[in-house]
Amino acid sequence: MPTTHAPAKEPGGRSAVRTLSRLWPYVRPVRTRLFSAALVAIVASCTGLVFPLVLKWMVDGPVADRDTGGVWLGALLLLGLGIAEALLFGFRRWLVARPLASVEAAMRADLFRHLQRVPVAFHDRWASGQLLSRGTTDLMLLRMFLAFPLTFLVVNGATIAVGMAILLAQDWALGLVLLAPVLPMVAFLAYFEGRYAAVARRAQDQVGDLTTVVEESVLGIRIIKGFGRHRSQARAFRELSRTLRGTELVKARLLAAIYGVIMTLPELAIGAALVLGSVQVADGGLSTGTLVAFLSTALALRWPVESIGFLLAMSQEAATATERYFEVLDAEPESGTEQDAGPGADAVGSAAVPAPRRAGAPPPPADGIRFDAVEFRYPDAPDGSPPILERIDLHIRTGETMALVGATGSGKTTLTALVPRLHEVTGGRITLDGEDIASMARARVRALVSMAFEEPTLFSASVGENVLMGAGGGTGTPHDESALVRALAVAQAEFVHALPQGAATQVGEQGLSLSGGQRQRLALARAVVGRPRFLVLDDPLSALDVHTEALVEAALRRVLKGTTALVVAHRPSTVLLADRVALLSGGRVTAVGTHQELLRENAEYAWLMSGGTEG
Ligand SMILES: Nc1ncnc2c1ncn2[C@@H]1O[C@H](COP(=O)(O)OP(=O)(O)OP(=O)(O)O)[C@@H](O)[C@H]1O
Ligand SMILES: [Mg+2]
Repeated sequence: MPTTHAPAKEPGGRSAVRTLSRLWPYVRPVRTRLFSAALVAIVASCTGLVFPLVLKWMVDGPVADRDTGGVWLGALLLLGLGIAEALLFGFRRWLVARPLASVEAAMRADLFRHLQRVPVAFHDRWASGQLLSRGTTDLMLLRMFLAFPLTFLVVNGATIAVGMAILLAQDWALGLVLLAPVLPMVAFLAYFEGRYAAVARRAQDQVGDLTTVVEESVLGIRIIKGFGRHRSQARAFRELSRTLRGTELVKARLLAAIYGVIMTLPELAIGAALVLGSVQVADGGLSTGTLVAFLSTALALRWPVESIGFLLAMSQEAATATERYFEVLDAEPESGTEQDAGPGADAVGSAAVPAPRRAGAPPPPADGIRFDAVEFRYPDAPDGSPPILERIDLHIRTGETMALVGATGSGKTTLTALVPRLHEVTGGRITLDGEDIASMARARVRALVSMAFEEPTLFSASVGENVLMGAGGGTGTPHDESALVRALAVAQAEFVHALPQGAATQVGEQGLSLSGGQRQRLALARAVVGRPRFLVLDDPLSALDVHTEALVEAALRRVLKGTTALVVAHRPSTVLLADRVALLSGGRVTAVGTHQELLRENAEYAWLMSGGTEG
């Protein structure tokens, strides 16, 4: 499991607005509702500004004239306005709730699909917790942003503008006193925005690191318990969460500063306006009602003004979350992996539709698998390091089983991963029946080549579903049923029939409810169930006893007569069942021959094989 940090970009120098505008394609389908909701909210918010005007009418009219009926009328009017405002805000909520849930779902689905399509090298590089946190916390932040800050920045901005117009219309001198703090506040907000963005990004990345630790601790629970590492694991977690807490505190301090400024300055301005207004009322230059209306309008604007601080903070967080989301989505996907892509969807392949082992018109020349001066180095290998594989020349004839032997770390797994294009060769070429795999659609290569890996991974699904994953088609047809039975027989996985619900038995996460050898045999059954033309097995029988291994090999031979196979092997018992053996050493294939020939002629091979019992 990779534990590296996500390759994060510097947050500096980007504009929050430009970043957030990338959300538009997702918001577009729900734009009508979102705009109507904002409109409703603006109307509701401005309704609040009518209260002071009614008050002014009451103070200068019925109250001054001691007209009880007029006061009642005013009170009823205020009640009506209050109800209208509440109803409008409720309506807004109803308008946005459902569409925004669908926006979040769409973004999450896109992220997941993209993660399936990026190359293996991407997953080698990214910590899984970073990806997980982007698909959960960050998307939640984005939905909250769309639901609340986005609308209310507009709504409160509009309310402030309308309120200011009312204030200036009532008494422009007092209005200007209230407007005085605007400039210093804008300057402070601009400064605060940059600082907050950087800290918000740091906090989100730290959540990703924390998620990684949790995930690794859960997956590696056996090792942690077995080696008594729970204390150090807990310490690592505590360390990270303390760092995160520190970052959150910095965020809180920044917010506190902004609140201090944003709440104090307007209060001071209102105080000044109150003093000036009272003096004017005493001089008779202003009616009491106007002063009451003026001050209550100013007070009604307090919430829209004060909210700007945290609305901007939330928008900053949304912008960094967007950035993190698109960092993943911008990673280049593999071309030609969409199984269901129509013709033309794939730019590389000549034939986009996988057509494995069909009795088609001109049969391809049966040439098997050919490695031609293949060179490979991992994308993130340090500069100047020698390639893992250097000038590999190897020909596996059609129908032949070739064993691949080499010291541990010699590059066997790497070599096998090149055939189904899990990694791309960095030099030379690999051909399947004469056709260069680099010029074939990946989907087609993978339909032709079947694999079983060193780590037999099973998914949380039934045994049958896990195996039939290798068949390419749907599940549940009678054809699949017979293919499943045959594959289980080949892999000597008859233990399946003894499971509580047979092939319908659910296996848990990673198949941990099964033994290592049982998992390996299911992975093998998955590799052979589709009767592939080419089979690449990375040490698939290591967990089996020698007798079961021999049975598997014999069954493999019988059923897959036309299949060309490359099998990584460590034990003489496995090697003996192959037609020929290739020895991988120092990044090259240094010898090819039968087991007996190599034993006689190659000292390194003899040494590698000397550890086991010879069949
Ligand atoms: N994703 C990766 N990124 C960078 N280097 C890698 C990666 N995977 C493997 N390597 C390096 O490539 C070399 C060959 O590894 P590989 O897994 O192919 O060996 P192997 O022959 O299969 O070994 P074993 O017999 O132990 O399975 C090792 O030195 C390893 O450190
Ligand atoms: Mg290996």
